[in-house]
Amino acid sequence: MPTQNLIIDPQKLWDAIMETAKFGATPKGGIKRLTLSDDDKRVRDWFKAACEALGCTVSVDAVGNMFAVRPGKRADLLPIALGSHLDTQPTGGKFDGVLGVLGALEALRTLEATGYETNAPIMLVNWTNEEGSRFAPAMLCSGVYAGVFTPDYAYARTDRDGKTLGEELARIGYRGSAPVGSHQFQALFELHIEQGPILEAEAKEIGVVTGVQGMRWYEVTVSGQEAHTGATPMKLRKNALLGAARMIQAIDKVGMDYLPGVASVGLIENRPNSRNVVPGEVFFTVDLRHPDEAILDRMEAAFRKALPDCAAGQDLGFEEKRIWNSPAVAFNTDLIACVRRGAEKAGYSTRHMASGAGHDAAYIARVAPTTMIFVPCLGGLSHNETESTTLDECGRGAQVLLNAVLEYDRQLGDRPQPIC
Ligand code: GLV
Ligand code: MN
Ligand code: MN
Repeated sequence: MPTQNLIIDPQKLWDAIMETAKFGATPKGGIKRLTLSDDDKRVRDWFKAACEALGCTVSVDAVGNMFAVRPGKRADLLPIALGSHLDTQPTGGKFDGVLGVLGALEALRTLEATGYETNAPIMLVNWTNEEGSRFAPAMLCSGVYAGVFTPDYAYARTDRDGKTLGEELARIGYRGSAPVGSHQFQALFELHIEQGPILEAEAKEIGVVTGVQGMRWYEVTVSGQEAHTGATPMKLRKNALLGAARMIQAIDKVGMDYLPGVASVGLIENRPNSRNVVPGEVFFTVDLRHPDEAILDRMEAAFRKALPDCAAGQDLGFEEKRIWNSPAVAFNTDLIACVRRGAEKAGYSTRHMASGAGHDAAYIARVAPTTMIFVPCLGGLSHNETESTTLDECGRGAQVLLNAVLEYDRQLGDRPQPIC
């Protein structure tokens, strides 16, 4: 039986999701809102105005992370943070990241509407460049916050057109003056769609997230020789695209050999990409993931062994570099318990689960107690314009987010000092 007395308004949350979905809307009903694009600026401006309308102070750190704070009763307590990201993939959906930020906004709106005073301040966060699609790696600016990367490293990341993250931050007016890390908080809760099929398949309403699997990204360049497609006999070709194709097939096999591990190639550039030139150079990216770091090591070894095997016999050269390693993360057990109790209070069914996708929470877990809440998405489909989660599912997630934060906050009332 539901026992909570602060009830979020699912329709208001839904309206906010649909309103912000116009910033970067795609014809198939999704969103293209690459980080630090003009549409990212528009949604940031919208979010800032919405937070200010609720009486929050909004500030931005030097890598564009946005923080909005509603004061609590006790000045000696650090805020409790809630948030996610507003950037999307090039063919992204309406919910990945957005639900976590706007669900947090709806939780805060509910507190404000009812005049409820928390012990600790409540802080909403929008992290910069979670997706890692425009600027690799993913979770970049939560990573700067957590001390994994320096601000200079983040500023120097380039997109495929050679523009840097630092320039683009300044261009859209979100290179803030506050030092990264100066917005301290004592705990972070991130609401997100599951992005996988488990909750839907098991008809569970809420995922109580226990951690995030390990992720490693690599870049590979294969070199062959450009030549005329009509005049160069098959046996004399050094076809970089053919070598890359064989490598991609071998990488897929690495995933299949180490299930539930996954191995993917998502970005490929073929040069010179002319229909009557044998390709001379191919660049592609590799993404390997597994919940167990020791098995991820074996996947990495299998991938590295496959590359020379595929290049052999075709007289191809190649270079490979690991550009990112985000180890597997276990979330904080006290916060996980707050989420479970928050879901129980609302009367929702739960399932404990690890995340297959990367999230800002994975880096923040290094510097503060952290956890996540998942809600189902249709067919487990995400990073897709048709990504779909219902009004009720979004509402349940935001309700559990609010309940979990209040569970945590109530415990603070009994404690003389901040708990971290
Ligand atoms: C982020 O969406 C990731 O999991 O790569
Ligand atoms: Mn996300
Ligand atoms: Mn994503």
